[in-house]
Amino acid sequence: MKKAIDAQEAEDAFSGFPVVLATVSDGRDNIITLAMCHVFSFKPPLIGIGVGPARFTHGMLKGAKDFAVNVPTKELVEAVDICGTKSGRKVEKFAASGLTREKAEKISAPLIAECPVNIECTKVKEVEAGDHTWFIGEIVAARREESFDVKDTLLYWGEYRVIGERVK
Ligand SMILES: Cc1cc2nc3c(=O)[nH]c(=O)nc-3n(C[C@H](O)[C@H](O)[C@H](O)COP(=O)(O)O)c2cc1C
Repeated sequence: MKKAIDAQEAEDAFSGFPVVLATVSDGRDNIITLAMCHVFSFKPPLIGIGVGPARFTHGMLKGAKDFAVNVPTKELVEAVDICGTKSGRKVEKFAASGLTREKAEKISAPLIAECPVNIECTKVKEVEAGDHTWFIGEIVAARREESFDVKDTLLYWGEYRVIGERVK
C-alpha cells in the first residue's frame, strides 16, 4: 500500500546522481562538488550544472564565459568532500584538496589532472529553477583516460555510492 509523502521524501526516492567537480576561473581558480549535473542536449552537446546562489562558485559562474566538468573516481572521495564542504571564499581548493591544476585546451577554467574525464564547456544559457541556477554549457573539448571505467565513479544523494550491477 502506498501512503502520501512530502516533497522532501519524494526527492529522497532517487538512488543517486553522478558526482562531478566543476571548475571555473575569474583569475582565481575554484572547484565545487556537484551532484546536480545533467545532459541537456546531444545536438548540440549541452550539459548543465545546478548551483545554489549562496555558493561562491555561483558568482564566479555568473561572470564566466566557460567552465569545466571533471569526473572524479571513488579514490578521490576525500578531495571531493573537501571541495563540497569548504568555500572558495575562504580556501584555495586546489591546495586544500591536493588536486592538481591542468591547463584546458579551449577554455579559461582549469581542469583537474586526477579526474579521468575532463569536459570543457562554453556557457550558453542560465536557467533559474527555484533555489538553484542551471548553468548550461556546450561541450567544446573533452578528454578521457584510456583506462576509464564508469564503475569507478561516484554517485551521491545523502551518501556516496558506486553504481551497481548492469540490468539490461
Ligand atoms: C557530494 C556533494 C554534492 C553537492 N552537490 C551540490 C550541487 O549539486 N549544487 C550545489 O550548489 N552545491 C552542491 N554541493 C555543495 C557545495 O559543493 C558546497 O556548498 C561547496 O562548499 C561550495 O563551494 P564554493 O562556496 O566555493 O562555491 C554538494 C556538496 C557535496 C559534498
